[in-house]
Amino acid sequence: MPKLLEGKTAVISGIANKWSIAYAIAEAFAREGASIVLTYLNEKQKDSIEAITGHLPVVKMIPCNVSSDEEIAALTESLRELGKPIDALIHCLAFANTEDLGRPFVETQREGYLLAQSISSYSLVAMSRAVAPLMTNGGSITTLTYIGSTRVMPNYNVMGVAKAALESAMRYLAYDLGPRKIRVNAISAGALKTASARAVKGISIMLEATKLNSPLRRVTEPAEVGDTAVFLASDLGRGVTGNILFVDAGMQLL
Ligand SMILES: NC(=O)c1ccc[n+]([C@@H]2O[C@H](COP(=O)([O-])OP(=O)(O)OC[C@H]3O[C@@H](n4cnc5c(N)ncnc54)[C@H](O)[C@@H]3O)[C@@H](O)[C@H]2O)c1
Repeated sequence: MPKLLEGKTAVISGIANKWSIAYAIAEAFAREGASIVLTYLNEKQKDSIEAITGHLPVVKMIPCNVSSDEEIAALTESLRELGKPIDALIHCLAFANTEDLGRPFVETQREGYLLAQSISSYSLVAMSRAVAPLMTNGGSITTLTYIGSTRVMPNYNVMGVAKAALESAMRYLAYDLGPRKIRVNAISAGALKTASARAVKGISIMLEATKLNSPLRRVTEPAEVGDTAVFLASDLGRGVTGNILFVDAGMQLL
C-alpha cells in the first residue's frame, strides 16, 4: 500500500516530550513517508526533542517561540532555505498561566487572558501567515483544540475561551487560504495526560469519567490523533476544510 504522505514535507510544532500530541503526530507522519521540520520553544527544548526524535526523518529544526513576532517571521526564510515546498503545518501548542486554570474564571485578569489568547490562538494566524507562502502546491494546516471551547469544563477556564477563538480563527483562515488550495482544520482531541493537561486541575478524574462514560468506554490514544492528522494532511482529506474533527472516543456526544 502506498504511504499517504510520501514526498510531502510537514512543519510540526509543539513537541515537548514523548507524551506530547505533536510527538504522536510526528510518528504518524514519519510512518506515512513525510519529511519533518520541527519547531521548538527554546534551546533546552531543542535538546530534549533531539534526544527522542533520532528515529524520525527530521530534515530541519527551527526555533519558534510564538510569543516572538521576529521568530515567527524568521520561520518563512528558514523554510525557504530547504528549497522545496511545504505541504503541511501542525499547530500543536498552547499556554495559559497555571493559576488561571485553577481559580474561579471570574478572577481572570487581563494579562493572563491575553497571554492565553496570544500563545494559544493568535499564534495559529501568525504561523499560517509565515508558512502559507511556502505552500506553493497547496497544503494543509491543522490545529489542536478541545471541547472546552464550547462547553464549560471545570478549571479549563481561560483556555476554553482561547480555544473558542482558535476555532473561529481556523474558520477565517480556511476562507482566506482556500483559493490558494490551502485547507485549514482543527482536531478536537479527547483529554490526554500530557504536560499541558496536567496543569488543568482534575484531569485524572476527567480521564476516569471518560473511561466509564464515553461511547467507546475508553480514553483517547495519542496515535489516533496522529492518524487523523495524517488523513487531513493527505490527499484523502482534499475536500475537508474549515472543520473540527472530534477524536475523543465520542465524548462530544455527552
Ligand atoms: N492533552 C489534552 O488533553 C489535549 C486535548 C485537546 C487538545 N489539546 C491541545 O493539544 C496541543 C498540544 O498540547 P499537549 O497536550 O500535547 O501538551 P504539551 O505540553 O506536550 O505541548 C504543548 C506545547 O506547547 C508549546 N508551547 C507553549 N508555549 C509556547 C510558545 N510560546 N511558543 C512555542 N511553543 C509553545 C510547549 O513547548 C509544548 O511543546 C495544545 O494546543 C493543547 O491545548 C490537548
